[in-house]
Amino acid sequence: MMHLMTGLLPLGFHLAGWRHPDAYEHQTMNLEQAIEVAKLAEAAKFDMLFVADGNAVRQMDNPDLFEANSISDRPAVYDPVTLYAALSQHTSHIGMLATSSTTYEEPYITARRFASLDHLSGGRSCWNIVTGSYPGDSVNFGFAEHVEKSVRYERSDEFVEVCKGLWDSWAADAFVEDKSSGRYLDASKVHTLNHVGTHFSVKGPLNVARMPQGYPVLCLAGQSEAGREMAAKQADVVFSVASTLAEAQAFYADVKRRLPAYGRSADELKIMTGVTVYVGETEAEVDELDAQLQALIEPRVGVAYLSKLVEMDLRGYDVDGPLPDLSGDTNAIAAYRIMIRAMSEREGGLTIRQAYERVLPSMGQTVVKGTPVQIADQLEEWYRGGAADAFNVGFPVMPTGLRRFAELVVPELQRRGLFRTEYEGTTLRDSLGLRYPVNPYFPAPASVRPVQPVNGEAL
Ligand SMILES: Cc1cc2nc3c(=O)[nH]c(=O)nc-3n(C[C@H](O)[C@H](O)[C@H](O)COP(=O)(O)O)c2cc1C
Repeated sequence: MMHLMTGLLPLGFHLAGWRHPDAYEHQTMNLEQAIEVAKLAEAAKFDMLFVADGNAVRQMDNPDLFEANSISDRPAVYDPVTLYAALSQHTSHIGMLATSSTTYEEPYITARRFASLDHLSGGRSCWNIVTGSYPGDSVNFGFAEHVEKSVRYERSDEFVEVCKGLWDSWAADAFVEDKSSGRYLDASKVHTLNHVGTHFSVKGPLNVARMPQGYPVLCLAGQSEAGREMAAKQADVVFSVASTLAEAQAFYADVKRRLPAYGRSADELKIMTGVTVYVGETEAEVDELDAQLQALIEPRVGVAYLSKLVEMDLRGYDVDGPLPDLSGDTNAIAAYRIMIRAMSEREGGLTIRQAYERVLPSMGQTVVKGTPVQIADQLEEWYRGGAADAFNVGFPVMPTGLRRFAELVVPELQRRGLFRTEYEGTTLRDSLGLRYPVNPYFPAPASVRPVQPVNGEAL
């Protein structure tokens, strides 16, 4: 069964999508819109929602992007876990992927926030473990410049180990709450971590009870060598950024082949490819939407956003001249530079304008365009062809894109037996078919069921 996620992004997944007449008005800090998106996605049986995040107001020295409200640099957003705490009370099954950095935060606080969200949502929390893709975040945390990537990954690895240790603090049945004896908890059912490592010293235990899922679902986005290795070791879900089937298949095979070294089987790590879907009842309808949106991209904004993606200032170059050499690693998101370079090579060399015109309609994700049958054909090809277990589906204009997908594409996927018609259980681990982590200190029972009423019903 394929898995589907969509971004909780009322802006839409085209750089100019928010300017389209059908797009949401007044998106800034708008909780009602977030609730609407979450409910639409849940009604369509999506596995989960996604909120990307950073810890800074970005692009202030780049007015073209700053004023354009570019998707990944939004200057005013909710903290993801706080937002999901609110959404958890308006939904009952959909999972909640929240981004949180291991470079700038402390494991105790992060472990506590995700454990709290898991309780509040009845077992639907998911952590997008990032090391921080934006150098400008560093200056808000006492660093003069972006922490070097290998150090970020080393710290991240230890950070996650500490969080897991903290989440194993309590047996699921530690809180006996026996009124007659006056014994609130069973003191033999708590474990103190006593971690002392290279980056952290954390005694524990965590002051949150064992969460319904044991651990939140763990997701990683890094695409570099270090990112892939960490995904094989730690993650339940890993993002994949690819612009062709062959690229996606190569990434899929490369990451899956690393799992046995960590004693894991191929289905313990789901690979999630980003796609941006343009769907209509006819191809003409889709082409018209595409043309409307492309016309809304100002060239100076296009060049500025492409510069950001490839981590190279392209403003001094001729917009109709060739893309400069993009070889070499970056200190931010390697995946976009690799993907754009490959795209240019495949097409015999692109100009800067051609490159941004291809990338911005999808913000770097693969574009899937057409009628419901054409969209389902492509998703099926990638799913059956060993390129993806799951799709992170973006829509150029919100909420119309999600509505159309739910009405037109989801039934086609269901008809083919590729997508669920009902949720398999109540937690995100149930939806994704993932095992529940066993607490090594208190092996049974593996998890507790949520006690919190969600959406008015006890689960
Ligand atoms: C699809 C995708 C989504 C990401 N989302 C975020 C995010 O929300 N916040 C963030 O700080 N980094 C984000 N990243 C950055 C990664 O977590 C990682 O730090 C970065 O890609 C550098 O590692 P790499 O060179 O291994 O790719 C994202 C990366 C990808 C590919």
